[in-house]
Amino acid sequence: MSASFSKTSFLGLLFAFSLTVVLLSGCELLGDDPTPGAADVDVISYDTHIQSIFDQRCTSCHDGNQSRAGLRLDGWTWLIQGSDFGEAIIPFSSDESRMIKLLDPAGRFAHPENVGKEKISDDEFQLLKRWVDEGAVGPLGSSPFTSSLNLLYITHEDEASITVVDTDAWLIVRRLHLEDYGFSSRARVHHVAVEPDGSFWYATIGSPRAEDVQTVAKFNRFNELITKYDTPQPGLIALHPTQDVLYVSRLITSSLERSLLEIRRSDMAAIEVPVSFAGEHALAIRPGGDYLFSSSYDVDQMAIVDLSNLTVQQYDIKGVKQGFGQFAISPDGSRMWGTGMQSKTVTLFDISNPNAVVQRQSLDVPGIPRDLTFTPDGSSVYVTVTDANTVAIVNTYLDLIEEEVVHPAIQGPMGISVTSNGAYVFVSNQNSQGMYAARHTMIGEPAPGTLVVIETATATVVKAIELPSKPGLMGSRVVIPTFR
Ligand code: HEC
Repeated sequence: MSASFSKTSFLGLLFAFSLTVVLLSGCELLGDDPTPGAADVDVISYDTHIQSIFDQRCTSCHDGNQSRAGLRLDGWTWLIQGSDFGEAIIPFSSDESRMIKLLDPAGRFAHPENVGKEKISDDEFQLLKRWVDEGAVGPLGSSPFTSSLNLLYITHEDEASITVVDTDAWLIVRRLHLEDYGFSSRARVHHVAVEPDGSFWYATIGSPRAEDVQTVAKFNRFNELITKYDTPQPGLIALHPTQDVLYVSRLITSSLERSLLEIRRSDMAAIEVPVSFAGEHALAIRPGGDYLFSSSYDVDQMAIVDLSNLTVQQYDIKGVKQGFGQFAISPDGSRMWGTGMQSKTVTLFDISNPNAVVQRQSLDVPGIPRDLTFTPDGSSVYVTVTDANTVAIVNTYLDLIEEEVVHPAIQGPMGISVTSNGAYVFVSNQNSQGMYAARHTMIGEPAPGTLVVIETATATVVKAIELPSKPGLMGSRVVIPTFR
């Protein structure tokens, strides 16, 4: 499927999902009182209870004739599609939904009063809020984005949560809070990896306190926690391209754990693979699935693991201290780039023979490189340069930095993820200095993080999506083709 998602096919898909659900669940027919109190309504019907509020109070400014802020409210699919700035509501999360925050009659905005119309009643507000918390079910009975194919899971280390973005619709579609799964509010989710078919996803969850659960957790596509493997200081995750295993490195800050993990994805049974150094972080598997490469932030050594028998070779990295944060391997498995967080360079290794790795050149980048990805055709490597507010693009034929992407929403770029067809690169941005202004400034809210969408054909930012807070690394079901 094309990643340039047209409005028609987006609506068509939503409709198709809704239709499937309504055929299964049947339709609820309710009374026709247009604005009943929230408490009086048993089952909320979109047409009867929700659309009628929009029709009476909103569509004079938000319909096909006048879509203020790009938001149309003359139908469920329009509402779900959001405004020019992104989503209007996040299903199941009214407290984090822009529309609910703006409409709160007791709040500072009390929209549409702020634009000269009457604010909505408490009853209407409670009904809208409940409808969002029950999943923003549409006229045909289903919650939006329940069957999305392409999802990006963005970690928020500082607030124990994950934002889920649909990378076809370019909208936030779910917010997940680790406390709801029984984790501590201090839990720090570091990285996510997603099965190629999207059926399950895995997250490394640590904590600054040793007594808290530290684990590799497995969730299904409905975001239910299935099982977990407890282990100290889990860092990055790499899925094996063909076998039922994944690999986990340790956090950069981990000073004790001298091992990485091989975990069986089906039942999360694990084997520890001892390595010679602590705090190994960077982690990548050759696309053919034969060798794994990992390295430490503190010690300039690389562990090269033969995955057929888990034997480890140690390779000494030459030159200045690198402190690799992450590795990315070309689709043909011959070349690997690493982000030297201490050297402020990206470094190329020839890994065509994993038993005779050759360290090649290092390219200077304008700050600390954090995360990187090859494009699926192998032609470029995109690198987030956190403190320089740029995304550097390495041309892998010339082995030169060809371009730097800058944009007001690229502020402290962190995680990076490419779509399977290579058309778009997604970059999470921390915006810690608050240089990127929120669409609506709410008292007490942190500056928003951002997720930018870079079109690879033009190397330009085509969309900036506001995130609820500072994001970290992220994961999606990217399927990089394998040439062997
Ligand atoms: C009199 C015109 C008017 C009416 C009526 C109105 N709006 Fe708006 N709405 C606007 C304008 C103008 C903006 C953009 C400026 C702003 O954000 O305040 C806006 C912005 C919004 C936004 C923010 C979009 C974004 O992403 O920034 C939401 C959500 C919204 N309206 C929902 C509603 C709802 C729901 C109703 C009915 C209860 C409603 N509006 C009624 C004019 C109106």
